[in-house]
Amino acid sequence: MTPDNSVDKALLRANGLSASVYNRNRGREFHFFRNVSFHIAPDEVVGLVGESGSGKTRLGLSLLGLLREGPGLYAGSLSYRLSDAEPLDFSFQHNGGKKRGEPLRKGLAPVLGKRIGLVMQGAKSALNPYQTIGTQLKDTLALAGCPGTQIPVVMEQLLSAFSLASRSASIAHRYPFALSGGQAHRVMIALGFAMGPDLLVADEPTTGVDSPIQALILQHFKAFRKGTLGPPRHASRPRPSMLFITHQIDLMKGLTDRVMVMYAGELLEVFHTSQLGQRPHHPYTERLMEIANEAGGRAAVHSIPQIPGRMPVMYDPPEACVFADRCSLANERCRKEKPELVVDPQGQGVACHERH
Ligand SMILES: Nc1ncnc2c1ncn2[C@@H]1O[C@H](COP(=O)(O)OP(=O)(O)OP(=O)(O)O)[C@@H](O)[C@H]1O
Ligand code: SF4
Ligand SMILES: [Mg+2]
Repeated sequence: MTPDNSVDKALLRANGLSASVYNRNRGREFHFFRNVSFHIAPDEVVGLVGESGSGKTRLGLSLLGLLREGPGLYAGSLSYRLSDAEPLDFSFQHNGGKKRGEPLRKGLAPVLGKRIGLVMQGAKSALNPYQTIGTQLKDTLALAGCPGTQIPVVMEQLLSAFSLASRSASIAHRYPFALSGGQAHRVMIALGFAMGPDLLVADEPTTGVDSPIQALILQHFKAFRKGTLGPPRHASRPRPSMLFITHQIDLMKGLTDRVMVMYAGELLEVFHTSQLGQRPHHPYTERLMEIANEAGGRAAVHSIPQIPGRMPVMYDPPEACVFADRCSLANERCRKEKPELVVDPQGQGVACHERH
């Protein structure tokens, strides 16, 4: 069933969100992202795609109050409508203080790891080094409200789904230091699923793994969404929503409902996944698609050497179109006037003077 992804049903709504970190050596702010607005509906999977350094991880972390660098969010607002929880609303204002993120961190604390989950980029360092994998999985499932009798069953299901247990051996008794990078990566995803959250932010869960494992992980994300993998959900709760972060646009088909394209800390386009390649896209989205096609769907799009120019340095982000230096369609207006991302009621939009 296609989710109702209209903005008034949003489970998460971000409005004009901006974040930066103050660099003492330079005496200036480095902008992670600016004026980002979007929503995610219940039971909706939204992809966030863009090159390395575009701000995807910082945006994902900020939604969970986990932006560690300096003051963090300085403008905009965030609203959460999670099941069985009070509405949570936060707004951010630049006040020069050092603890701008504190109310968000405190406000989200009761729902983090329960209604909101995270699969972090760089898995190994994110696991608790003092507890075995089995204990971490068990505690996570208990915290998520999984009935005690079900915990061993779901643990077994998750461990075998991610090839972490066989008849002869399970990694449940091991500590994180004894895991390979690939195992730690899969444990991190299994823990994200074990939380049984309403919203799961998954940051590059398929990066750095070979094709068969990538296919397996994608299959499990689909199963988690359907409710056939992970802890049982009460019938009154919607299926989980996800923000799926990747630099591979070709992974979006079959998993996401909508795609957001990020570049230099700005959202340049939002579209329904079914429209991928079927509508006029932002020139940057087109480049990402071309590169994915050239690589036959196996692209690791870490940079775009085919396009002359580089991503703007975010100490001094352009006030006009951020993609102008690399865009073959750029004209005088593009270098003077910032194209706004106007998202229509169906949840689609392009920030480009030449594409609508
Ligand atoms: N403490 C910091 N000070 C200055 N710049 C930082 C700091 N932390 C991160 N950055 C920069 O912020 C930018 C956005 O980083 P982020 O990790 O969000 O990018 P990303 O899109 O997730 O990239 P990747 O695909 O490589 O994971 C990058 O250019 C990064 O180098
Ligand atoms: S606004 Fe101009 S420079 Fe920017 S992407 Fe569109 S055509 Fe290119
Ligand atoms: Mg990242």
